[in-house]
Amino acid sequence: MTLALVSDWPRWEKAVADLLASNQVTVGTHRYTRPAPSTYEHQWLWDSCFHAITYRWFDPEMARAELLSAVAHQVETGPDTGMLPHMTYWRGGGEDLWGLPNRSLITQPPLVGVAARLVFQVTHDRELLVELYPHLTAYHEWFERRRDPDGDDLVSLIHPWESGWDSSPRWDRAMNLPRYFSNEYGSTTRQTLAKRLPQYGCDPVALAQAGLYHVEAVDYNATRAADLEALVFIAQELGQPAEAARWQARAQAVQAAVQKKMLQPWPHDLDGLDEATPTEECASEFIVLFGGCISPADAGRLVDHLRVPEIWTPFPVPTSPTGAATFAPDQYWRGNSWLVVNWMIYMGLRRYGYFDLASELALKSLQLVEGSGFWEYYHPITGRGLGAHPQSWSGLVLDMLAGESGRGI
Ligand code: GLC
Repeated sequence: MTLALVSDWPRWEKAVADLLASNQVTVGTHRYTRPAPSTYEHQWLWDSCFHAITYRWFDPEMARAELLSAVAHQVETGPDTGMLPHMTYWRGGGEDLWGLPNRSLITQPPLVGVAARLVFQVTHDRELLVELYPHLTAYHEWFERRRDPDGDDLVSLIHPWESGWDSSPRWDRAMNLPRYFSNEYGSTTRQTLAKRLPQYGCDPVALAQAGLYHVEAVDYNATRAADLEALVFIAQELGQPAEAARWQARAQAVQAAVQKKMLQPWPHDLDGLDEATPTEECASEFIVLFGGCISPADAGRLVDHLRVPEIWTPFPVPTSPTGAATFAPDQYWRGNSWLVVNWMIYMGLRRYGYFDLASELALKSLQLVEGSGFWEYYHPITGRGLGAHPQSWSGLVLDMLAGESGRGI
């Protein structure tokens, strides 16, 4: 890490604080941060987790508010009791897609536990853990009850939006998309699927049997393992050792299932009820490091692979390698660099002891923002900002800077 970037903490902190402040929204007693003005005005679940992780360095109250808003519309009745919605429409507006004014019918990557733990480690806001714990318990019980129909400890997604990687080529087969299609067509198919979910009771098996989207995603399950590990920490912190042991067993079961079913020949999703191995390679494979789902020896091979030129581009990590047939760096999730993905890879590299490579990734991420500003995603070769602007989640570079400047994360 170059000294100039690290010793510049106050400047970065101010830039990120200004970014997030410009995107804050207050509705009644609730506060959250919209991902970006006009493009994304509502609250998104995994965005809010990333926002809270960023806020912990300069605004503990907002870190708490962000997470509490994200869980405020947890489902309270019916088969999806416990689900945390991927979108909360604080001012209404969800009817058209979901038939409900205030929330969506699907979820997003489970990071509330991870975020709560990271926030706590800086703010020591124990009351926040007390408030979040029942929500987290209900959420992870929901995953087990509703989203693991084959009982293999790997949860299934029912819509690409649940992955957070909306338009990745990983989903082209599961979405029955033709070889070539426009962005608009891809977006229309996702909206059509969203509107059809209630017809199948949002049930993963019913959707798969109808030939619709059903994927056990590798990064998603690795993320869930990390969230379960965070629950172990939270339960211990709250003085509940039996609960901690229960979550520990769940985390280990998910890690073992990823190892058993998803790592060969490289970390991959399981597509459909037949659990087919997709042929598309994507950067989602590196998220197994984040969830501790790979042996140290296999991690070494995976990290070597991260360094190939098609992946370690001038501004890594593109979501698809530059050599992939579907590589389209200007198209959303089809080969661009996203700082939230980089952050997860950064954390995973550190978890497995690859501190130098993690530092390099942090530096390249900071250079992206330094050169282009806070965009939703970036061109992996030129570093040009793409998508929405100014995008709150790219403020997460501050967390990597914290890691690099010995603030301890
Ligand atoms: C896009 C992204 C999704 C994100 C949302 C808000 O839909 O694909 O991951 O949560 O924008 O930023």
